[in-house]
Amino acid sequence: MRLLAPAPGWTITSDVIIVGSGIAGLTTALQIRAYGYSVLLVTKARVDEGSTKWAQGGIAAALGPGDSPAAHEADTLKAGAGLCDLKAVHALVTEGPDAVARLIARGAVFDRAASGEIALTREGGHLTNRILHAGGDATGAEISRALLAAVTEDPGIEVIEHALVLDSLKSESGRVCGVTLHVIGEGSRDGVGRALAKAVILGTGGLGQVFAQTTNPSVSTGDGVALALRAGADVADVEFIQFHPTVLYLGAKSSGQQPLISEAVRGEGAILLNDAGEQFMIGIHPLADLAPRDVVAKAIMSQMLKAGTGHVWLDVSKVANFSERFPNIYQSCISHGINPTHDRIPVAPAAHYASGGVRVDLAGRSSVPGLYACGETACTGVHGANRLASNSLLEGLVFAARIADDIHRTLRQLPREEPIVGSDTEILLTPEIRTEIAQSMSVGAGVIRTKSSLEQTKAQLEKIATQVSKNPCVEAWETTNLFTLAKVIVASALIREETRGSHWREDFPNESSSWLKRIIEHMDSTGTLSQRYEEVAND
Ligand code: SIN
Repeated sequence: MRLLAPAPGWTITSDVIIVGSGIAGLTTALQIRAYGYSVLLVTKARVDEGSTKWAQGGIAAALGPGDSPAAHEADTLKAGAGLCDLKAVHALVTEGPDAVARLIARGAVFDRAASGEIALTREGGHLTNRILHAGGDATGAEISRALLAAVTEDPGIEVIEHALVLDSLKSESGRVCGVTLHVIGEGSRDGVGRALAKAVILGTGGLGQVFAQTTNPSVSTGDGVALALRAGADVADVEFIQFHPTVLYLGAKSSGQQPLISEAVRGEGAILLNDAGEQFMIGIHPLADLAPRDVVAKAIMSQMLKAGTGHVWLDVSKVANFSERFPNIYQSCISHGINPTHDRIPVAPAAHYASGGVRVDLAGRSSVPGLYACGETACTGVHGANRLASNSLLEGLVFAARIADDIHRTLRQLPREEPIVGSDTEILLTPEIRTEIAQSMSVGAGVIRTKSSLEQTKAQLEKIATQVSKNPCVEAWETTNLFTLAKVIVASALIREETRGSHWREDFPNESSSWLKRIIEHMDSTGTLSQRYEEVAND
């Protein structure tokens, strides 16, 4: 399958193509450059506009006194609710500290305590302080700045901005050997072209825009996962959408990207209160307000449903020097008329992170040769049913290095293959349905799901699938990607008849041992989805 698009009018070649300029894409580019290969890095907007720069809380790594990779592993497995792959988690926690050291060597500056040591804070599900942060609550922006500076200095990395990647190109042997892309550029690289290489790495970030309210920026339309599905790659765990418990509530009608109130705020002493002023997390989980994210999101939703309100409250009065420790969150609240130093902050859950994605192995390889995925786009098995807070930036760093090593090991001797012209089915939907997709997903496949809510969303998606377009443009391509992702999320969420991690089925409220397996989604050349199961790798 492929998106309806004009035939490519220009060609560019490189050893490796990286799609996306967040922590995963930028780190993979630098790691691959260390082996001397040429890199073409394409990104849909400006290089600094992805999800990474929005990350507030930080990056988890076992660096503090008394902490260890084993303790980090235990917390990660607990949050993942039985669906983490042990080897992937082990790689994450043991290789994490060195990956962070490389990031620091590349120029990222983290906040330090008065003693001079890196300051470490806590977030939900962590039993110890192990979250590095920068600029208080501007961790992602600092990481992005440092990596971009290193990428920009490297003449072996060509960056193309404003380039939406459309589809993969395959050789006679079925190997991915490039992509088609649409560039809003000038001169020879304007419009649809093709980029050819020995390998393609997808690091396009998240898919939060599938939902009506999300912490993700507008560029997070899951383009990489949708491309991988059309390329015939397996995707997994897509039903596990993590809803961040505390997003600034801007009213029931507010949609798109919503301001995040980092979990680190609760790590520094903030508490959640209901309308009656009760600290409702006490008694729900031993970690109370610092319980894993799914537990807190569910408790907040229960309070909201009980009280018939659109939000609960976050009280930050116990957080020392709030405006200095969290300057961006403070400013964001002030700009919406809330002064957190005397007002409680209204907060509600919103779509935040896709724990699943393109199913990859420990070297970041998808099920289609030549196609890799990294970061939020990938499903390495690290997150299971619920990502542990601040493990995502770390996953990007660790698996970027693994992908680069694999590319060096395997692609060195390979010639660059030529793409063949396929006779794929083409798809394109009208951009007018984008809002309907997001609203229908939030209502029927959001924090709380039931068979009937999911079936309603499924029926609505089937109805709007008829709204085809003959006018290729960025908005139509993005909408088609969102539609594809909505379809797979609903399909998996309907099949998984249990409540586990961030997948909450009101009609199946408990975990079931028969569901200790992941759902793998596959799309055939006509766009039909099929599913199979994969055992969780516990050894
Ligand atoms: C946060 O700062 O609460 C978000 C961190 C994360 O999603 O890991």
